Amino acid sequence: MFNKVSLSYFLIFMGVIFLLSGLFLLAYPTAVQAAEPNPIHITNEAGVLPPQSPSAQGDPGQGGYIFALAGGCGCHMGQAGFLAGGMPFEGPFGVVYAANITQDPATGIGNWSDQEIIDAIRLGHGPDGEQLFPVMPYPTFSHMADEDVQNLVAFLRTAPPIENAVPERQLNVEAPPFSPMAPPPAAAPGSGVARGEYIVTAISHCGDCHTPFNPDGSPDFSKFLAGGVVEGQIAPNITPHDGTGIGAWSEQDIVDLLKTGQRPGNEPPVGGLMALSIEGGYKDMTDADAGAIAAYLKTVPAVENEVQPPEEMAASAETPAMEETPATLPVSGEARGSWAIETLLGLGLGLTAAGLWLRRKWHTAR
Ligand code: HEC
Repeated sequence: MFNKVSLSYFLIFMGVIFLLSGLFLLAYPTAVQAAEPNPIHITNEAGVLPPQSPSAQGDPGQGGYIFALAGGCGCHMGQAGFLAGGMPFEGPFGVVYAANITQDPATGIGNWSDQEIIDAIRLGHGPDGEQLFPVMPYPTFSHMADEDVQNLVAFLRTAPPIENAVPERQLNVEAPPFSPMAPPPAAAPGSGVARGEYIVTAISHCGDCHTPFNPDGSPDFSKFLAGGVVEGQIAPNITPHDGTGIGAWSEQDIVDLLKTGQRPGNEPPVGGLMALSIEGGYKDMTDADAGAIAAYLKTVPAVENEVQPPEEMAASAETPAMEETPATLPVSGEARGSWAIETLLGLGLGLTAAGLWLRRKWHTAR
């Protein structure tokens, strides 16, 4: 009897300990972040920490927000896991594969210095000196403020390493050399139309889908945001043109679309690449930033342009591979730690209940 009773008390005791730890972590979520293994601290064969570049001063939390504004770097999602890359992008230029940008040292970017990652994001420079093909939107990201790109890198450092070797690209044409027209700002504009312009042109890369291309593959800036075709999908005209653009939309309509994918009126919600960008991150932008984007879109020149579906699109109505990508993982350490809290609370409740039940059962049996 002594054993059974003390077992039930032991269960209750353990249950309460688990419950209390779960509640503690619920109250102080940052403790989970600290307790989580930090993927930066991957050791190499020699067992030493990789060198930290002096610019490793970004804030991963702020970087997570930049990541969301960028639509969650959706192209780098795929079957292999969060940011593990592998998705092919084909065009007349050949085929390129989204890189593995997890912290895996061998197949990802775990061994890159912060500056090497920043140069890949803003200049399209690979660590071996090769020029990345501008499918990667570095011409847009070249305008990204120092502060934002450093925070973004700090966030990328928190991505769990996933081993996934991505195939070599096959190019029919060389990637054109790239040098930005103006140096990026140190810090981003904080509010208003200027902030909206910055988000659209430096981070959210709306123009990469919504601006048509010249025959040579470069964006046609005379039709900035007047609609394009990407991966076989029509990205409509989002200039304030009344007939062919979104001139009839209110700023609130645009905010709603960015945060929910819902178009005004009874129109169906957006799908495809736009839905992926919203789900991947736009939905988490602040109302102020969504409002700034909407205000900016009202100021761009209205261009009359009805996007025509290309012939091959009408012929092959195949779904793009991107739609099969998994939803993004929680971006903050806080969210990633929540499974630990849930496990603790669950275990705690379970053990306490079992203990109480056994105690009652054995107590009455006695
Ligand atoms: C990766 C490509 C891509 C990016 C980046 C992108 N869009 Fe889109 N967008 C699309 C596609 C494709 C559609 C059409 C979706 C559909 O019809 O289901 C769309 C639809 C829209 C619509 C609805 C237009 C209409 O007439 O119904 C708006 C508004 C819009 N996008 C605004 C934006 C803004 C603003 C940004 C940047 C913050 C942006 N998009 C970034 C691809 C993109």
